[in-house]
Amino acid sequence: MRIAQISDLHFGRDVAAVARSLLADLCDAAPTMVAVCGDLTQRARPAEFRAARAFLDELPAPALVVPGNHDLPGWRVWSRFTRPWRPWRLHLSTDPYGAVSHTADGLVAVGVNTARQWGPHPDWSRGRIDARQLAAIGAAFDEAPSDDLRVVVAHHPFLLTPPGRNRGLVGRSKLALRHLRRRADLLLGGHIHLAYSGVVDGLVVAQSGTAFSDRLKGEPNSYNLIEADGDRLSVSTRRWDGARFDTHLRTDYVRDGHEWRPTP
Ligand SMILES: [Fe+2]
Ligand SMILES: [Fe+2]
Repeated sequence: MRIAQISDLHFGRDVAAVARSLLADLCDAAPTMVAVCGDLTQRARPAEFRAARAFLDELPAPALVVPGNHDLPGWRVWSRFTRPWRPWRLHLSTDPYGAVSHTADGLVAVGVNTARQWGPHPDWSRGRIDARQLAAIGAAFDEAPSDDLRVVVAHHPFLLTPPGRNRGLVGRSKLALRHLRRRADLLLGGHIHLAYSGVVDGLVVAQSGTAFSDRLKGEPNSYNLIEADGDRLSVSTRRWDGARFDTHLRTDYVRDGHEWRPTP
């Protein structure tokens, strides 16, 4: 079982050579699934969505794609409130309000849209997960065979490290973690353009950096390759070194009962 996790493509601010190299690296990696953790565009413009669509069509495996806050019309306030997901629907052909899922032999993955049109705070880039989405995730997981790897794909993070603390966790993260504890294995996210992984409440969280945009936040472009085999799981961050993607850091996890922990 191998999952490629890519995020924050930001077409409109993409670097073509890095994107081409990423596609070649993904072909070599031969993943079971590609999880695309949002912010496919920079400003939700039609040309950016068309470029994103063309890129997704070249992926070497089925993709599970969720939106990010940049996939909403930014300051085009009328569009943002009257038809916020119209371009997404038009080009990506998925329902941004529903959960999307992918199942393969030994894998059940559910994607949810954590981006919101507005929030009761000045930073509308923040996201939220709601009870309806958690119920959809729970229903998909409950139907799956008990030994399937259970993966949640979202844009906003469930775990922050000190360099990203100014960005904020996904809203209602505590409720979500209570709901997902002992039910999910792996939570995938993006948004902060920093790559790391860790454990929270017995769940492995993996965050990927911006795959090939020039919106770098102090570290190079990257994506994650996640390999799972029974009670073992590894997250390898593959970083752009100026010429190609190469493994920068690998972290291993093991499952004890229902809970995951890092291995020394
Ligand atoms: Fe982003
Ligand atoms: Fe974002």
